[in-house]
Amino acid sequence: GHNPTESEQPEQLLLRMFRERAGEYISGEEISRQLGISRTAVWKQINKLRETGYEFEAVSRKGYRLTGEPSRLTAADLMLAARTSVMGRNLKLLAVTGSTQDEARALAEQGAPEGTLVIAEEQTKGKGRMGRSWYSPPGNGLWMSLLLRPDLPLGSAPQLTLLTAVAVCRAIRSVAAVDAGIKWPNDILIGGRKTCGILLESTGEDERIRYCIAGIGIDVNMAAEELPENLRSIMTSLRIESGQEVDRSKLAGAIMNEMEQLYGIYMAEGFGPVAALWEALSVSLNKAVTAHTPGGVLKGTAVSLDSSGALIVRLSDGQMTKIISGDVTV
Ligand code: BTN
Repeated sequence: GHNPTESEQPEQLLLRMFRERAGEYISGEEISRQLGISRTAVWKQINKLRETGYEFEAVSRKGYRLTGEPSRLTAADLMLAARTSVMGRNLKLLAVTGSTQDEARALAEQGAPEGTLVIAEEQTKGKGRMGRSWYSPPGNGLWMSLLLRPDLPLGSAPQLTLLTAVAVCRAIRSVAAVDAGIKWPNDILIGGRKTCGILLESTGEDERIRYCIAGIGIDVNMAAEELPENLRSIMTSLRIESGQEVDRSKLAGAIMNEMEQLYGIYMAEGFGPVAALWEALSVSLNKAVTAHTPGGVLKGTAVSLDSSGALIVRLSDGQMTKIISGDVTV
């Protein structure tokens, strides 16, 4: 007959062993014997599982014990957390994809409704701003793209970027109870380190927005060791900062709630109320900033946001200038 274990990979067999003997230590030797692989290969498989969110305790002479499983995002949990009528109601959950931005764009082109949300446990080609890549390993992050279809001029897109930053920042503050702030234009920082990046891509026609895809990437439950070494000094996770695991479904749901509320206010009343909220959460205002713009490097003090979403900076000679795109360091 058909043996269900025949097609299983070593890591699935391993998991099955640990689950069947929940709470017990299993020696490396026994695993090696049962799986027919070397001790080194056992250790490698355990580490591979650790990278995807499984936790093992290793005790010499006793072996390994499974102490934690990764939390999976489920549509049911998410729908429960999002008390919305539009944002996130049409949901596509993926185990792995290149970029949720591209998935969302394909859905948009097929006529998907506003509020369509694509979430992936892992991205293999995660995109950051300015052509950078975005590290998106499985299990502990929140990688998602939300489709918006506002009937607005293309020039409004930067305001939507700032609106998204406000929504995400508010959701992070309430769910993870951390002191998160916004660095212009849309990075979310905690204690000076980045925990979330936002990438808004818009498509237009005749100077009007056809649709926007708000891409949100949050380092939620990564431990410090899971962040790439070269990024550890500038990146952090909600878990590192709050000292607790954060429920990703609750966080995604909270973001949908905030987005729906803010987007509603924005469409009805314009950018004013959103700008006020952004300024209240900003870590860039009234600080010395260095701006790396396409036109060169500028130094000055960030003073406010203008009506289009640009950052107004007072240069050392007192002159005021507007920064429309680029990066700032605070
Ligand atoms: C940045 O700070 O450079 C922006 C990072 C945006 C990352 C998110 S993760 C979900 C969505 N899919 C992508 O490929 N990028 C965005």
